Amino acid sequence: MMMSRYGTKVMVTAGPRLSSSRAVSPNCLLKSRVLARDFSKMTFEKKKKTEDNQSEKGSSGGKGDQGNKGEQLVVSYWGVKPMKITKDDGTEWKWSCFRPWETYKADLTIDLKKHHVPSTLPDKLAYWTVKSLRWPTDLFFQRRYGCRAMMLETVAAVPGMVGGMLVHCKSLRRFEQSGGWIKALLEEAENERMHLMTFMEVAKPNWYERALVIAVQGVFFNAYFLGYIISPKFAHRMVGYLEEEAIHSYTEFLKELDNGNIENVPAPAIAIDYWRLPADATLRDVVMVVRADEAHHRDVNHYASDIHYQGRELKEAPAPIGYH
Ligand SMILES: [Fe+2]
Ligand SMILES: [Fe+2]
Repeated sequence: MMMSRYGTKVMVTAGPRLSSSRAVSPNCLLKSRVLARDFSKMTFEKKKKTEDNQSEKGSSGGKGDQGNKGEQLVVSYWGVKPMKITKDDGTEWKWSCFRPWETYKADLTIDLKKHHVPSTLPDKLAYWTVKSLRWPTDLFFQRRYGCRAMMLETVAAVPGMVGGMLVHCKSLRRFEQSGGWIKALLEEAENERMHLMTFMEVAKPNWYERALVIAVQGVFFNAYFLGYIISPKFAHRMVGYLEEEAIHSYTEFLKELDNGNIENVPAPAIAIDYWRLPADATLRDVVMVVRADEAHHRDVNHYASDIHYQGRELKEAPAPIGYH
């Protein structure tokens, strides 16, 4: 199911744009003074709101998301009043890390069993590299699937960004368009990062897990960067297999939830808004939509690899954008 626009009211409050005026006419000077006065007023409001906010601390804790911290501090960006965004029901949109038009309903009908059978040597290498990575992962996390999901999403969000960045640079170097692949790969990275933001709400990383993420990112980012430069078809194929593993991992997560080994807690608020889930959605619903996303990433990356296998460039085949 492709993305459809969220029917959300977006009210734009026009605000004065402040700019440095090079004009010297009396009218312009007067205008500058008025703008400067407006800005002073806004600064005062900002200070007052901060004070009010501080005096209310303790009673309003936990309201809104973490990304909205300091919201009261920023009433404008360079003199332009921010958009006031509301949901369908008229309540305020509380997330600053994503907006209503970036939300979507995951395609739960997507085929979860699709598998690219490795036939060439690079494909077999990609497949067995991924398979061999599963063993230490299983050993480290055992059946702690919440923690496992959170940690693996820190890795899963890297390839899309690296691939998108390299295709972007190639587009600049060659003075050519990308067929939408920059956007598609960056969408994947953003979507994976939202998976991470979601699982952060159900599993908090401890100090050694944070240290592990830093170490793994240092190695994986550079390895994938080099790998993508040498062979994008291998890099995309490997991500395709990683996504197949992610589907398996989330299927095991669901089994643990169904067996009662993991408590099926209410879905985090961020997940309810991002995937447009019902208000009473649970962790199981979240795992279902995340797994559907992984299946989509699998298809995108195997498709990208297939394009390279045909001796073509990504720009020659329109990218599957707009899913997220
Ligand atoms: Fe993911
Ligand atoms: Fe993924």
